[in-house]
Amino acid sequence: MKPIAVAIDGPSGAGKSTIARAVAARLGFVYVDTGAMYRTIGLAVCRAGVPLGDTAGILPVLPGLSVSLRYQDGVQHVLLGGEDVSDYIRTPEMSKYASFVSAVPEVRAFLLDTQRDMARTHSVVMDGRDIGTVILPDAAVKIFLTASPEARAQRRYLELRQKGETVTQDEVLADMRQRDRDDSTRAQAPLRQAADAVLVDTSELTLEQSMDAVEAVIRRTLEGQR
Ligand code: DC
Repeated sequence: MKPIAVAIDGPSGAGKSTIARAVAARLGFVYVDTGAMYRTIGLAVCRAGVPLGDTAGILPVLPGLSVSLRYQDGVQHVLLGGEDVSDYIRTPEMSKYASFVSAVPEVRAFLLDTQRDMARTHSVVMDGRDIGTVILPDAAVKIFLTASPEARAQRRYLELRQKGETVTQDEVLADMRQRDRDDSTRAQAPLRQAADAVLVDTSELTLEQSMDAVEAVIRRTLEGQR
C-alpha cells in the first residue's frame, strides 16, 4: 500500500507536536518532528563555535553533518552522526539556534531530502512550518493548527511557571507575537497556511478535544479520498 502523508503546520505553542504525536499513535503512522532536525543542526553549529547571527559560519559546517531519525518504542530519536542528541536539543539556547539556522536556505535544502524520504517509505504525520507548502505539497491531508496568541501565551506561561521560571504573562505574549512575526515574514519558507489545508483552531479546546478534532479531520479527509 502506498504510504499516506499527513502534514501539520502552525505557529509555536498551538500544541502541534503533542497533538501530532498522539494522533500518529492512534493512526499507527510514524510521527516526524521536523523541528527536532532544525534543533540538531543548531546544536552542531553551536558546537562548532559559530555564534548566533553568523550566517556565513553555518555553511562550512553543513557538508560534514549527518542528521537521521531512529525510532525506539515508537519514540523519535534524532541522531547527529551516530550520537543520539535528543536530550540536548530542548534547551532555550537550542530554540534560538534552531530558529537561527532555519532561516538559512542551505539548511532547509539540506534537510529536505531526509524529510521527503521519510514520507516516501512510511505513512507519516509530519509536523513543522512548511510541510504542507514545501516539503510534502501532495500530502493526502494538510492541517494548519493554530490558536490565538493569547491562548498560546497562556499555555506557555503555565508551562514555564511549572518549570519554576519567573516570567510574566505579558512577557510571554510579547515573545510569542515577536516569534509569529519572525516566522511569518522571513524570506525562506515563511509560515503560512497551504491553500488546501484545513484550519483547526485550538483556542477554545482542551488538549483531548484538539486531538479528537485533528484525528476527525484526518479520518474524514482520507474517507473522502477512497
Ligand atoms: O517546532 P520547534 O520549536 O521544535 O522548531 C524549532 C525551530 O525550527 C523553530 O524556530 C521553527 C523552525 N522550523 C522550521 O523552520 N521549519 C520546520 N519545518 C520546523 C521547524
